[in-house]
Amino acid sequence: MNSARPTFRIAPSILSADFARLGDEVKNVIAAGVDWIHFDVMDNHYVPNLTFGPMICQALKPHAKTPAGVAVPIDVHLMISPVDALAASFAEAGADFISFHPDASAHVHRSIQAIKSKGVKAGLVFNPAEPLDVLEWTIDEIDLILIMSVNPGFGGQSFIDSALRKIELARQWIERSGKDIRLEVDGGIKPDNIRQVADAGADTFVAGSAIFGKPDYKSVIDQMRTALN
Ligand code: DX5
Ligand code: ZN
Repeated sequence: MNSARPTFRIAPSILSADFARLGDEVKNVIAAGVDWIHFDVMDNHYVPNLTFGPMICQALKPHAKTPAGVAVPIDVHLMISPVDALAASFAEAGADFISFHPDASAHVHRSIQAIKSKGVKAGLVFNPAEPLDVLEWTIDEIDLILIMSVNPGFGGQSFIDSALRKIELARQWIERSGKDIRLEVDGGIKPDNIRQVADAGADTFVAGSAIFGKPDYKSVIDQMRTALN
């Protein structure tokens, strides 16, 4: 890792929020001190589950700001195939980052361009059994790498340890590129393993059930920050 201290970001996944009160959940978790809102899009095709689309993203956008009115980025994680048309809709719905799984797109480079042409930051997501090879031809184009530490589709699963080695490899890719690319990890992150994930090289941490599964969001987030610092 760089000797420079990374800026850590905590990105709660609203997949584990109360869907009947999504706007309040976003506001409450932001008031508790998170950095991004992670928005898991599932299509019952690429993954077995089905969640929410661009209209929900658009409805939540006005809620994604701090009590002082500062916008909090919406980090859209697409678990859909095909990618391009809905990615464009999410860009129009106010997404700040849009990431997709390269194995879900027939033309990965084109999908990245489709996202970036809308002025949105683009990311690639790697499943637990998937290699990072596609970075050889895409790293100069992307803003974020998302390593899955569970299989995509559901919240509340256990962290898969081999993700740590993949995070280390992804960090090497980023250092070689010399680019400012976020290294995010998604799945099974808790206050008691977040430090290990950061030590492997991650700087951005998705957590769904660990935060929304507890009554006091701030206390979990504070525990995560303490572990990171
Ligand atoms: C899984 C999603 C994750 C999920 C994480 O497909 O991409 O973002 O919500 O949930 P936890 O933190 O509960 O593992
Ligand atoms: Zn996710």
